[in-house]
Amino acid sequence: MNTRVVAVPHSGDPLGSFDDSKDPLARLEHWHISPDAKDAVATLTPAAEYLRTKDTPVAFPTETVYGLGADATRSASVKGIYSAKGRPSDNPLIVHVSDLHMLRSLLGSQDESAIPARYKSLIKRFWPGPLTILLPNPDPSPLAPEVTAGLKSFGVRMPSSPLALTLIKLAGVPLAAPSANASTKPSPTMAQHVKDDLDGRIELILDGGSCEVGVESTVVDGLCDPPVVLRPGGVGIDELRSCPGWEDVVKAYKDQSEEGKAAPRAPGMKYKHYSPKARVVLYESSYKDGREGIVRADAEAVAAATNGDSHAVNGSGRKKVGVIRTKRWKPAAGLRCSKLELYARQNGHSQQNGYHDETSFDVYMGDLQNGQGDAIGQIFDISLGGETRGIAQGLFSALRELDRRGADIIFVDGIDDELDIAAAVMNRLRKAASETRA
Ligand code: TXA
Ligand code: MG
Repeated sequence: MNTRVVAVPHSGDPLGSFDDSKDPLARLEHWHISPDAKDAVATLTPAAEYLRTKDTPVAFPTETVYGLGADATRSASVKGIYSAKGRPSDNPLIVHVSDLHMLRSLLGSQDESAIPARYKSLIKRFWPGPLTILLPNPDPSPLAPEVTAGLKSFGVRMPSSPLALTLIKLAGVPLAAPSANASTKPSPTMAQHVKDDLDGRIELILDGGSCEVGVESTVVDGLCDPPVVLRPGGVGIDELRSCPGWEDVVKAYKDQSEEGKAAPRAPGMKYKHYSPKARVVLYESSYKDGREGIVRADAEAVAAATNGDSHAVNGSGRKKVGVIRTKRWKPAAGLRCSKLELYARQNGHSQQNGYHDETSFDVYMGDLQNGQGDAIGQIFDISLGGETRGIAQGLFSALRELDRRGADIIFVDGIDDELDIAAAVMNRLRKAASETRA
């Protein structure tokens, strides 16, 4: 199968708008495609037609991560998602709708009361946007059974990406879409990431530039009491708690650290998720020597990274060490390093089509040295900056970038696990990590 990456042209004018209403709920009733969005529509229309008629999924951007979309009402097309991704079929998919009218058609009623009252405060505040809610799946349901993997509820969200809303609207059907990575890999935040994972497995990747949020949606279940967060994401638990009916929402997910696995875990013992090829070693913000970097405090990890001594110098023994810095670490994380210089400027790759919101970070490279000053490998250093939102936006991309450079091991500077998007960042990092140092 030949995989095409198609840039969706964007003149800068809005692709569409919701109803013109002051009521934040009534406003979301219909997404209207703008008559001025001709260029984008000319590209998205055949993609929408493909989604309606073919059984191979189409990758498309959302504000969180790229999704691998299929018509959620047809079993054959939903099955295509599982096979393209290599995803276990017991993991349900998120349904994406363009507006509330489409959502109600899934609930079998256009009645106001079709959506449980508790969700209204969340929908008003966070839709369109990175929040997935669980709703009861009616019987019979318009959704293909493969979407829900046998559960009595389905997960649904209205993305805020105008490109995604327009694609769904043109398709005229809700799109089931998991993140468009190969199973176990970090979620894709650029079209190139999708191509790296799914080349030859799908025919079409729509390129809309870099994703704004960078981590997936928050998944909540408001059908139980108290309501729960099933996955932390783009909407923080503190923001949920400020909404009527959600003051006492509780966390129903567990991070590795809370499962008593903060100590290094044996390789192969972990459930692989969000993982690059390289071994990821995560330093929690509680780690004692965090400000200095990792060298002095963590001789063991450094020895593992460098094969212990200079005999790595000969040929293939040279190690490539990746460093992802956030709020605390100095360049090279305190490893012995010389000649750390700008090596690559990461700017996404769709500058030509009018999207200028790319995640951008620079990669620095230098020689990794042993105690005697011999060069025993290379260091690739990426800084995601000190802002939590920027860290979330660049995280998956940085893990993938270091994989592309052939890193053997990646050291990551963790951040405080606050109730905002930082919870999502640390949740993904703990899943990606082979070892966590606390
Ligand atoms: O931001 C996102 O949510 C992205 C973009 C593409 O929209 N999608 C995404 O989908 O992350 P995926 O399939 O990678 O993650 C879906 C999550 C899983 O943790 C799944 O278990 C949960 O949502 N989920 C979906 N339906 C569910 C249901 N009925 N009950 C419980 N969990 C559900
Ligand atoms: Mg995923």
